[in-house]
Amino acid sequence: MAGLSNGVNKMEFSVTVLPGDGIGPEVVAEGVKVLKGIGERFDHHFRLCHGLIGAAAFDREGAALPPRTLEMCKTGDAILLGAVGEPKYEDPKVNVRPESGYGLIRLRKELGLFANLRPVKLFSALVNSTNLKPEVVEGVDLMLVRELTGGLYFSEPKQIRQTSEGKEAIDTLRYSEKEIKRIVKVGFELSRSRRKKMTSVDKFQILRSSDLWREVAIDLAVEYPDVQLEHMHVDACAMRLIQRPIEFDVIVTENLFGDILSDLASMLAGSMGMMPSASLPGIPRDGTRLFGLYEPIHGSSPPLAKLDVANPIATILSVAMMLRYSFGLTREAAVVESSIDEVLQEGYRTDDIMSEGKTKVGTKMMGDLIAGKISKNHSPNDGLPVHPSRKLI
Ligand code: IPM
Ligand code: MG
Repeated sequence: MAGLSNGVNKMEFSVTVLPGDGIGPEVVAEGVKVLKGIGERFDHHFRLCHGLIGAAAFDREGAALPPRTLEMCKTGDAILLGAVGEPKYEDPKVNVRPESGYGLIRLRKELGLFANLRPVKLFSALVNSTNLKPEVVEGVDLMLVRELTGGLYFSEPKQIRQTSEGKEAIDTLRYSEKEIKRIVKVGFELSRSRRKKMTSVDKFQILRSSDLWREVAIDLAVEYPDVQLEHMHVDACAMRLIQRPIEFDVIVTENLFGDILSDLASMLAGSMGMMPSASLPGIPRDGTRLFGLYEPIHGSSPPLAKLDVANPIATILSVAMMLRYSFGLTREAAVVESSIDEVLQEGYRTDDIMSEGKTKVGTKMMGDLIAGKISKNHSPNDGLPVHPSRKLI
């Protein structure tokens, strides 16, 4: 576990690194580069243990989440994951294939990581690089809190079965009061450290699980009189996110709604390549240490793999979240975020966020530029080289 080593000030943390498939290994390499840069600059020691997950694990060990990987994850302080998914297993005719979600959804479940935080914040340098009008996206800064271990992803029964009239498929949407309460609580707590507004997203009066969701949110609101709670249907929320995104502060929602809304919301940040995430077993509090899994929200993008074109910023921002939530290293997290900000201000762009007049760079160069800011520009004692606006919670 995290702690002081040798009785001196050197902090030691152990990180399980799971690169996965497609562009996963490339973006993770840049995240690790930045983590090492932080270690050197602030004199922390990050012990890295690499493990297999996804199709890469299935191909080599016959399981997408090998027991050895799961064990490694349980003994570390945090996990840095790239992405999972491989096209050869997407063909419905393939008989032998990895488990659903390539081991990732089981990993989240086994570790009890029910709270998935997906911050959507637009770097000011990218205001003109999104697909939306600058006046719509300027100032976007929201936190999507997705329930991650329940709902349609996991509830039983879940099967395809034969009937006399052909096949039928069943997925089940089940949520207990307890599961709803603990995730809505995370939303309320995060709202308190932000702009004190929370939107609870559901499909009230259509889904019974949403009726209970709303009831629980209303009951819990009594404990948070300082937070303004609003309720929104998921379809209206999708529309609002594009129409007036700056009106959102914290959004809390169930698993599948959160999966869909977060891809949609990534367009507000310019690209999926700008969207980090943290999956936690509880409520994050500044300066404390909570185990967590950190990953970009994008997939493995097989066509982009090994071309040195993928954007590593989502992974590097995930490293910043790890520093903040799992290691209590708030200042270090802010240094990572402000380094990204500086590199973007200087006009460097990967292909996904490229616009006219800017300098296109590859995955490795983007990682080098950001790591370079961390090691060169500042010394550990030069105060706080922090852009307060980049704080993610
Ligand atoms: C995500 C992804 C995953 C999910 C997949 C890869 C299982 O889309 O993290 O959003 O559906 O949760
Ligand atoms: Mg998704």
